[in-house]
Amino acid sequence: MTTLNRAQQLKHSVQEFTRRDEVFSFLKPERHPLIDTRHNVLLYVEGVNKSFDGFKAINDLNLYIKEGELRCIIGPNGAGKTTMMDIITGKTKPDTGQVWLGSNINLLGMNESEIANAGVGRKFQKPTVIECLSVWQNLELAMSGVRSVWGTYTAKLSGEQKDKLESVLELIHLKNHAALHAGNLSHGQKQWLEIGMLLMQNPKLLLVDEPVAGMTHQEMDRTSELLNSLAGKHSVVVVEHDMDFVRSIASHVTVLHQGHVLAEGTMDQVQAHPEVKQVYLGE
Ligand SMILES: Nc1ncnc2c1ncn2[C@@H]1O[C@H](COP(=O)(O)OP(=O)(O)OP(=O)(O)O)[C@@H](O)[C@H]1O
Ligand SMILES: [Mg+2]
Repeated sequence: MTTLNRAQQLKHSVQEFTRRDEVFSFLKPERHPLIDTRHNVLLYVEGVNKSFDGFKAINDLNLYIKEGELRCIIGPNGAGKTTMMDIITGKTKPDTGQVWLGSNINLLGMNESEIANAGVGRKFQKPTVIECLSVWQNLELAMSGVRSVWGTYTAKLSGEQKDKLESVLELIHLKNHAALHAGNLSHGQKQWLEIGMLLMQNPKLLLVDEPVAGMTHQEMDRTSELLNSLAGKHSVVVVEHDMDFVRSIASHVTVLHQGHVLAEGTMDQVQAHPEVKQVYLGE
């Protein structure tokens, strides 16, 4: 690759990154406001409704996510799973209802970057890592913020920041690939890197939409391991269609249908639920 091409590519990547910054908003974890979880609930979604041109995509939706919980959301295409994430992250405003982080932070009164700053991280389906930067630099960028993007080759990290970066590298199974350009990673590895980038901001709540689409079985197993290891420290909400994967990660599953919760419980419980069998599992 010529120098010019590389410079152009970096410029393009930075522009891309800046756009993402609206969602990710790279601020340090200590800037997160204090979230009141005395009731052990991190996320409250209550009586939420959202229509698009008269079509009710979300219909009286109630969802409560506990601190440190790993929850799976399943449901047929068009059930409203992504719309629900759009509402939690401020991308879409509901017509009615309440969305609170802890019992003190009203997410409906905040825009996307304020919600991200409050400690809500979201991973989209398509990984959007910066391909011409190394794995390490991508993580560094996620920690230091877009303003220092041009300094990522020279900036000195504090010991604490370096420790954090190394622990995330280990968690996402990319320790041996730290110097590799992100563009050379496999699809699965890119997904893990993006999860790692979110972790650099220490989110309280992590929303992950269809993480294993396109992954190999081995990558799926590692993703399941990774998400399980995040539970406890973070609350994680995973939307996924792959039932084996859902079974491997979640103790608690919510089934969404026509924008409403149809069933909730263990995988065995929801799979045995007559209505779930009918509308989702095709029985
Ligand atoms: N911005 C929008 N404008 C109009 N309709 C929309 C919009 N966003 C979502 N919808 C509609 O709302 C419904 C729910 O869509 P959503 O993407 O939330 O479903 P989903 O459960 O994520 O489905 P999938 O499993 O296919 O990803 C669909 O009928 C969709 O067409
Ligand atoms: Mg979706």
